[in-house]
Amino acid sequence: MAVDAGDLILPVGGLTLLLTGVIAGILGYTTIGDGPANPKNKTKQGFELTIGTNHLGHMALYELLEKKLAAAKGGAKGQPRLVVTASPVHDPKSGGGDVGSKATLGDLAGLAQVDFDMVDGGAYDPDKAYKDSKLCNILFTAEASRRLAKLNPKATANAFSPGLIPAPDGFFKYQNKFFAKTFNTIATAAGVAETAAFGGSCLAFMAASPSLDAVTDGWYDTDPPGKHQLRAHDPSDEARDVAKQKKLWDLSAALIAKASA
Ligand SMILES: NC(=O)c1ccc[n+]([C@@H]2O[C@H](COP(=O)([O-])OP(=O)(O)OC[C@H]3O[C@@H](n4cnc5c(N)ncnc54)[C@H](OP(=O)(O)O)[C@@H]3O)[C@@H](O)[C@H]2O)c1
Repeated sequence: MAVDAGDLILPVGGLTLLLTGVIAGILGYTTIGDGPANPKNKTKQGFELTIGTNHLGHMALYELLEKKLAAAKGGAKGQPRLVVTASPVHDPKSGGGDVGSKATLGDLAGLAQVDFDMVDGGAYDPDKAYKDSKLCNILFTAEASRRLAKLNPKATANAFSPGLIPAPDGFFKYQNKFFAKTFNTIATAAGVAETAAFGGSCLAFMAASPSLDAVTDGWYDTDPPGKHQLRAHDPSDEARDVAKQKKLWDLSAALIAKASA
């Protein structure tokens, strides 16, 4: 999976400049993402790997689960919930989304073809591909929430981010080991990193907290970064474009159907 350093939510202050400088230097030196730009990174269905894994794979799984979510009764067995792991980098106005390439899907011209490099039809950019995939996650959550509401008034769909968890053997496992360890050390020392345990507890909260029983189409992010708190936020302007939510759904469903035929 292509990942990037853009998930860092930078605090304000001198340390921000230091961290930004380190990241920018590394970004210039070694492509953040799945190594140097490589359009040959494809899923076995032939989709660009980052969008194929982070968006189309999620949507294919949703299609398999939809009937169960529609039929689930809730109550003692828990609410029928779809929880999508997204990231603040979907929003170019967020701290991490403003570093490096910016997420935007344009008119989705790329997704209208099976053999796309980028959703917007542009040239392959692994940093942007990851951020675009997280924007897809939020657009997808919104449309899924509308669809589920029609199928089952108890069923909800929400997106969240676990915060920056820069584990060298996890999120950064495809990166240069020296970079991964240094980044992890600096982000942890700067107090902006979260732990895997906290990320897991965020997922558990999204999946099981009764306080979210009636919440759908929500976006939750760690705020302030590194302080082990999850809060509701507004997603980016582009993520709230209802026409784009529907168009992304239709184009993605067509691609998945073609790949499954
Ligand atoms: N870590 C962060 O700082 C951070 C921040 C914000 C959001 N997120 C989001 O959190 C989620 C998980 O990130 P993470 O940090 O836990 O990453 P991770 O440690 O790299 O875990 C990714 C998981 O996805 C699986 N995976 C990757 N490519 C796959 C493919 N093509 N098909 C099937 N499974 C595949 C991996 O399986 P294998 O272990 O078998 O490779 C692994 O279980 C992602 O959606 C990410 O965008 C992470």
